[in-house]
Amino acid sequence: MAAAAAMDHLEVSTDDDDSSDYSSSFTQSSTHSITSSIVDYVYENGRRYHRYQEGKYMLPNDEAEQDRLDLYHHHELLTLHGNLYVAILPVKPQRILDCGTGTGIWALDIGEVFPSAEVIGVDLSPIQPEWVVPNVRFEVDDLEMDWTYHPDYFDFIHSRNIAQSIQDWPRYVRQIHTKPGGYIELAETSTRIYSDDESLTGSTLGLYNEKFNKALEIAGLMFPTGETLKKFAKAAGFVDVKVHSIKQPWGSWPKDPEIKRRGIIAAMICTTGLESYGMAPLTRYMGMKPEEVLKMCVNSMVEVDSRKVHAYTILYHVVGRKLE
Ligand SMILES: C[S@@+](CC[C@H](N)C(=O)[O-])C[C@H]1O[C@@H](n2cnc3c(N)ncnc32)[C@H](O)[C@@H]1O
Repeated sequence: MAAAAAMDHLEVSTDDDDSSDYSSSFTQSSTHSITSSIVDYVYENGRRYHRYQEGKYMLPNDEAEQDRLDLYHHHELLTLHGNLYVAILPVKPQRILDCGTGTGIWALDIGEVFPSAEVIGVDLSPIQPEWVVPNVRFEVDDLEMDWTYHPDYFDFIHSRNIAQSIQDWPRYVRQIHTKPGGYIELAETSTRIYSDDESLTGSTLGLYNEKFNKALEIAGLMFPTGETLKKFAKAAGFVDVKVHSIKQPWGSWPKDPEIKRRGIIAAMICTTGLESYGMAPLTRYMGMKPEEVLKMCVNSMVEVDSRKVHAYTILYHVVGRKLE
């Protein structure tokens, strides 16, 4: 997908009686041996979080979150026209690493695309399936600790939406060392929500977003944009670094049918996603009560469903090749 086209102004549908309209409310319905501290969980405000390196990553890891991650994977596939990555890989990769693999859905899919490749998925949480295909395996680890993989081991490393945890991005990207000629792909979503008209101004969703970003700032977390990731990748020795930026609308407001479909799925993801992303930062750093956060999330979703707020985030895919 051409980056410029993906960032074009999104036209708002004027059809109030849109048959494809919906309500997202229908969705409301270093490696370690597995020790108890790794498989234990922490519960807070009704959600379950990882125990290993407790408190490091602020999103839950319970069933609701796992469903959201899998739906997000579907959304990425729609966005990338069925592709698992944007990089143009000249040869079939034989060793692939998926950083912050979540439910492991991307790792399992790439293992199917490249059956001769060895695929490793790493995560703080042991939430991946136990029975997997022979060429895919999962490890529990903190990717911000010193890596023990041989520097010349992987020929493709993928990292997607891991931002709400990484304290030192330049170091994290430096550690993502592929072998010479290998590829990286860093995919992150903006924490800022935008609208090209004034529809976000004065909305509950706008307020949620302001408070959420303030909380991350207080927590000392930096959320890189495509250009920042590009800078880090170049500093880490990657060349031909390219940023692909794509608008991700929330809701069925876009006119274009394909973009509208993505918006509908994005809104379904937000139904639990606003709480997943916001609960810990807003209660831990902004002094909000859990019920206040929940109310804010519900009211934000009413706005998204009403199609009056034309919100979108930006998805960055940053691709680079390690100098030979
Ligand atoms: C939003 S989820 C994305 C999951 C997956 N990459 C995807 O796109 O479906 C982020 C994942 O990164 C993991 N994570 C965050 N910080 C990490 C760290 N320092 N080391 C290992 N995994 C981490 C979290 O546990 C979580 O499963």
